[in-house]
Amino acid sequence: MCDDELIPPSADLTEEQWLRAEPALAEGPVGERVREMRAPRRRTVLGGVVAGAAALTVLQGGERPAAAAARTDRFPLPTATNRAGEYAVLLTGDAGTGDEAQHAVAAAAREVCRAEGVGLAVGLGDNIYENGPESADDSEFRTKFEDPNSGLDMPWLMVLGNHDCSGLIPGSGGDPSRGDREVAYAQASRRWYMPSRYYNVALPARPGDGSDPVVEFFAIDTNPVSSYVAQLDPRYYWNGPYMREQRAWLDGALKASRARWKIVLGHHPYLNNGKHGSAGSYDGFVIGNYTSGIHLKELYEEVVCGRADLILSGHDHTLQILEPTARTRGTRQIVCGAAGKAGDGKAHFRHPATWQNFSDHGFMILKVSGGAMTVEAYTVDVTTRTARLAHRMRTTSQAG
Ligand SMILES: [Fe+2]
Repeated sequence: MCDDELIPPSADLTEEQWLRAEPALAEGPVGERVREMRAPRRRTVLGGVVAGAAALTVLQGGERPAAAAARTDRFPLPTATNRAGEYAVLLTGDAGTGDEAQHAVAAAAREVCRAEGVGLAVGLGDNIYENGPESADDSEFRTKFEDPNSGLDMPWLMVLGNHDCSGLIPGSGGDPSRGDREVAYAQASRRWYMPSRYYNVALPARPGDGSDPVVEFFAIDTNPVSSYVAQLDPRYYWNGPYMREQRAWLDGALKASRARWKIVLGHHPYLNNGKHGSAGSYDGFVIGNYTSGIHLKELYEEVVCGRADLILSGHDHTLQILEPTARTRGTRQIVCGAAGKAGDGKAHFRHPATWQNFSDHGFMILKVSGGAMTVEAYTVDVTTRTARLAHRMRTTSQAG
């Protein structure tokens, strides 16, 4: 069972209102977290003045602070296919626990990645449980990402999840600015690829001959329109400048893309048979602007559906390959959020599914060429750290 998500008693509360409505939350681990967050925040305000002054001094001296120096030995984005003539991509989600299950899934994936010539990986959010990183050089980046994924030596396209954007309450999504630490961390890591909070990547990287990309990924930040709580910073309001800018960017980028396969990466799913449900009615909430995910539903339906081949998401700790339908205008939803935590053992909703699994840990491998796209779902036995190919789905390209 997965019990990490705290569900608020009503839609669109602020975190303070949630804590008042559920005083029991102020006890136990959540209470500890709230006290921790409140105390360092006061210190941060004081420390921030000193740190800011120090940084200014360094910059005036013409030097960059060490933490901002970009690594030059990053694992490169693929510029060519593997021996099978495909771009093979490891898909993982909700991985960042640092626990044995995450290590076991990564170890099992390592074997498959070697055999399949995988040159790129995707992390679909909730990269650092439970609260997201405390700074851009938090040791949790090592214990919950670098160490488990050692040997998976490739760029990892990372997206922000609700736990990465925790406010006072773990997983609330109530402090999107916290995600900036994960963007900053990309400068220090060979693997972690997150040039900004939302971005696109086309393969092959640097084609040089003007040819169209085979595949393009569009990594989006779904948190400000799917948070369990109301946003407090006007920049991140559901109708604030950040979401307006992101929507305009996504719309333009999808329209402009000449890639054969277009794939949107967003932590929160559009459609979902798992317990959190689908955008617009997350966790049973159908009112409000945040908790229900109604405005993410709009974004998916108005900008993504009918244009992208796939929406890849996590959030539910399950593995689901859903069917493209008239409702999705041909776009296929895949949920792949079982790399660190396992699901809850049953389907709660009935969207048509090609294949789904609600109990095992696992990952998927995506393979694309100009002519076909294949998704292979693997379940992992955590005890033996072995992967089992549980399902293969292949789509051919009419245009290819
Ligand atoms: Fe999540």
